[in-house]
Amino acid sequence: MSLFIHPSILNADHHNMQSEFDRVVAGGADGIHLDIMDGKFVEPVTFDLGTIERYTAMCGLPFDAHLMIVEPEKHADDYIAAGADLVTFHLEVAENPERLIDHLHGRGVKAGITVNPDKSAEGMIRLADRVDLVLFMSVFPGYGGQKFMPEVLENVRALKRHCVEHGIEIMIQIDGGINLETAPRAVAAGVNNLVAGTFIFRSPDYGAAIQELRRACEKAESDF
Ligand code: DX5
Ligand code: ZN
Repeated sequence: MSLFIHPSILNADHHNMQSEFDRVVAGGADGIHLDIMDGKFVEPVTFDLGTIERYTAMCGLPFDAHLMIVEPEKHADDYIAAGADLVTFHLEVAENPERLIDHLHGRGVKAGITVNPDKSAEGMIRLADRVDLVLFMSVFPGYGGQKFMPEVLENVRALKRHCVEHGIEIMIQIDGGINLETAPRAVAAGVNNLVAGTFIFRSPDYGAAIQELRRACEKAESDF
């Protein structure tokens, strides 16, 4: 199974985004992770729709939009219109997750689900066969640069087991505190999509950072 790496541009240099995108594309990134925050579900506020539209026009990679917002059903279409290829929403704030998943698919984008790291994975496991991606938060959402929470790996394993047992093939993404030490542990637990912000954008050579992540995970991948 190949490993997908999606740089999170939360802490990229937003005054030089074309160059930031060019560097991660040249470095072998597979997609861009957009952290969308509304000041309600999480404290900070990020990326207005105009900015997202500009960014998705600048870069040909698929954009996965991680909606850390309340009332995701009200706003999902706006992010699709702004160019998101996959929309991930939090189950804690979705009124009817099944309906939102169907809605996203009907609009021609992929659907992802997530919960905060202190929540049980049961809801995500139950819906795994209806979505394209399950995101495991390995930090509390809101800020980049936080410390990885290893306890979330138990939930990753539970979902992975469920997927293997039921022949479900989806993206299992992890987000928060990913680096050379934590990435292989996540991959060994079943993750096949790494979101990395600080690790990539704080390194002098984004391509080297992406390659190092891949290399660090090679052995873990072969454990399956
Ligand atoms: C946290 C965001 C993450 C964050 C990851 O709310 O969901 O995507 O940008 O950043 P790092 O890799 O620095 O933990
Ligand atoms: Zn995120």
